[in-house]
Amino acid sequence: MMQDTHQLRCTGCARVIAHEDLKENFRCADCGELYEVEYPAWSVRAATPVRRNFPNPSALRWLWKERRSSSELKDQSGVWRFRDLLPILRDEASIVSLREGNTPLYHLPRASRETGVTGLYGKHQGMNPTGSFKDTGMTAALSVAHERGFAWVACASTGNTSAAMAAYAARAGMRSLVLIPQGKIAWGKLSQAIDYGALTCQLRTDFDGCVRVLNEVVRRAPVYLLNSVNPYRLEGQKTPALEIAEAFDWQVPDHLIVPGGNLANSSALGKAFLEMKHLGLTDRVPKISVVQAEGANPLYRSIQSSDGRELTPVEAHTRASAIRIGNPASWKKAVRIVHATGGSVEQVTEAEIALAKAEIGAEGIGCEPASAVTLAGLKKFIAAGKIDPTETVVLLLTGHTLKDSEYTIHYHRGELLHDDELTVLRAAIDATRRNPVELDADPDQVLRALEQAAQ
Ligand code: F0G
Repeated sequence: MMQDTHQLRCTGCARVIAHEDLKENFRCADCGELYEVEYPAWSVRAATPVRRNFPNPSALRWLWKERRSSSELKDQSGVWRFRDLLPILRDEASIVSLREGNTPLYHLPRASRETGVTGLYGKHQGMNPTGSFKDTGMTAALSVAHERGFAWVACASTGNTSAAMAAYAARAGMRSLVLIPQGKIAWGKLSQAIDYGALTCQLRTDFDGCVRVLNEVVRRAPVYLLNSVNPYRLEGQKTPALEIAEAFDWQVPDHLIVPGGNLANSSALGKAFLEMKHLGLTDRVPKISVVQAEGANPLYRSIQSSDGRELTPVEAHTRASAIRIGNPASWKKAVRIVHATGGSVEQVTEAEIALAKAEIGAEGIGCEPASAVTLAGLKKFIAAGKIDPTETVVLLLTGHTLKDSEYTIHYHRGELLHDDELTVLRAAIDATRRNPVELDADPDQVLRALEQAAQ
């Protein structure tokens, strides 16, 4: 049995409320900003007996490792084995899990050679049960919805959130409502939401339009909002940071590079690294940098024009449909984390994204286009002198390559990019393309193809 150990602090006016007082849109009634979960027991001002109850860092590290060999579902989950750092449920029996998390951290030898960064890794969140990092947040927030007795959950999505939500809702025996922009999400993701039984509404608008409609729906019907404005999502999305620290034996990497869409994930990871340092689990935090697609770059523009004080929404255009977002809900949280950790914000072109995706594919790993902005961004950070090749860098690969296989096929067929997008990258892109060869059922033809490929 977990105690109710958390409260919510507004990231705008710092007002603290109990969870019962959260509005259905998760915004502060006074200033309209978003909340963050906080745990009073971790405060330096907390009463001594509470602090004394908190396990010491070595005990926690040991416990988390030990749980991996347990046969209990809550221990096998890479989110809930760290439950001591996300005590958001009253009762562990409310946990809805698909054994998410515990994802691989891969060394990237080819990209290492190309960039000169020997310590270059990909934390592959696409290896989660529904193929994206959203599962880590969904197990957390959907368990909260389950515990609080909601029958319906809902989200607006560019695809991955809806796939994750539909799966976890199905597991919990709950109903789910998905709002997606018609014709603007990858087929793999749409098929997941349908397969897991969501009521899937394709709206004739973009992602930002879906968010506007959903806000009205949750005001008028008792459905629980599971977009990343829900602060419990971010508690689950902290856990890849814990896994990264654990993988480096609690010596954190120098840099973590994260794709930026609605801009919640960068702040969740940043919160985790700051909390780990505060609790004495690690002694520093990595620089957290965010990379956006050039056609969906409101944060990049905001940093350039006002150092993150103002953000003007844009009409978003990118083939990396997961991050096709012009009015990101959590941009202020992201700015705070980039500033607090000394990170940067970069933008990358469609051709840079496509090439980086092919390069990650050539590592035998693969990812979806939105994830590849991390490698494309790394090249720019190195060129700008913001990352030194001697430093350790982790790229957060947010989604599985099978999420958007159409993109991959178009790329390799040479049908993805227009001539005016290829420019200086044309030769590099051509060198990575592996279009299938059509032959007769004839061994000689196959042998000729083999000979050609070996040259
Ligand atoms: N990468 C992938 C694969 C995503 O699906 C998303 C967001 C992001 C990166 C960006 O993360 O929004 O926290 O900055 N996808 C959302 C969705 C918006 O609906 O699936 P963020």
